[in-house]
Amino acid sequence: MDSSGISSIIFLLAIVILQSFWAASAREMKNMHHHHSSSESKPDLNDPELQIFFRVDDLKLGGKLPIYFPIKDLSSAPPLLSREEADSIPFSSAHLPKLLERFSISDGSPQAKAMETTLNHCEFEPMKGESKFCATSLESLLDSTRSVFGSKSEFKVATTIHLNKNSTSLLQNYTIVENPIEIPAPRIVGCHPLPYPYSVFYCHSQESDNKLFKVSLMGENGWRVEALGICHMDTSQWDSDHVAFLVLNTQPGKSPVCHFFPADNLVWFPSQYETM
Ligand SMILES: *[C@@H]1O[C@H](CO)[C@@H](O)[C@H](O)[C@H]1NC(C)=O
Ligand SMILES: *[C@@H]1O[C@H](CO)[C@@H](O)[C@H](O)[C@H]1NC(C)=O
Repeated sequence: MDSSGISSIIFLLAIVILQSFWAASAREMKNMHHHHSSSESKPDLNDPELQIFFRVDDLKLGGKLPIYFPIKDLSSAPPLLSREEADSIPFSSAHLPKLLERFSISDGSPQAKAMETTLNHCEFEPMKGESKFCATSLESLLDSTRSVFGSKSEFKVATTIHLNKNSTSLLQNYTIVENPIEIPAPRIVGCHPLPYPYSVFYCHSQESDNKLFKVSLMGENGWRVEALGICHMDTSQWDSDHVAFLVLNTQPGKSPVCHFFPADNLVWFPSQYETM
């Protein structure tokens, strides 16, 4: 095969990887943040990607939980822009047609839909008692996070860590192998990557009672995960369509909803609550 044949195969492969990355992130976002009701079809409860939710009572030594940790290939992650670059590109659904043109994305394609969903997500008004922002560069991520905690405070970031290098996305039962450690931070900012041609983080923080936990897990196949999980103790403002209520068989305001963070999420909290 000549080199142009090989490069077109590589190009096609890159598109396939990009598409699966975008589609997976879009689904994950919808699962975790479906606060806004829509006419979308009912979620399929057998979908492994819904297995990130758990009950606060499940968090005890020896507890067993089925969990799906999505693990993404980092090489398919979109590029991180500098603030100068990011600020030179409009980030608004009003500019979507121009943006599609700029990134050579065809109208109506899965990527175009993902971009639109991302922009809409960033433009939604926050729920009552919630602050949110979208960051298109590391500088703006840090600045906006600092504005949530206050300019004088020190804060740090933590993530879910897979201790086995060969871990892949897999639904399996995990056992809690150490007493879960609560990080008693009064304020937590959770950031999730959104599907977009460059790196975009959606971050949010609820004022209401949240509990952050570090949980040591061991899968049935021996894989170890140091997972970060959060319990939202007050779900009364959540949309009753939120998929967590279906998975946990509960309703807004009736019981807390907990979920683990996938490894590509960032969890910020004031440094003085650091554990270990
Ligand atoms: C993952 O790698 C470990 C060694 O690091 C090996 O013992 C284990 O069998 C592997 N597991 C899977 C499911 O591939
Ligand atoms: C987890 O364990 C339960 C029973 O202990 C079993 O019914 C279920 O199928 C298991 N789930 C997975 C994903 O392996």
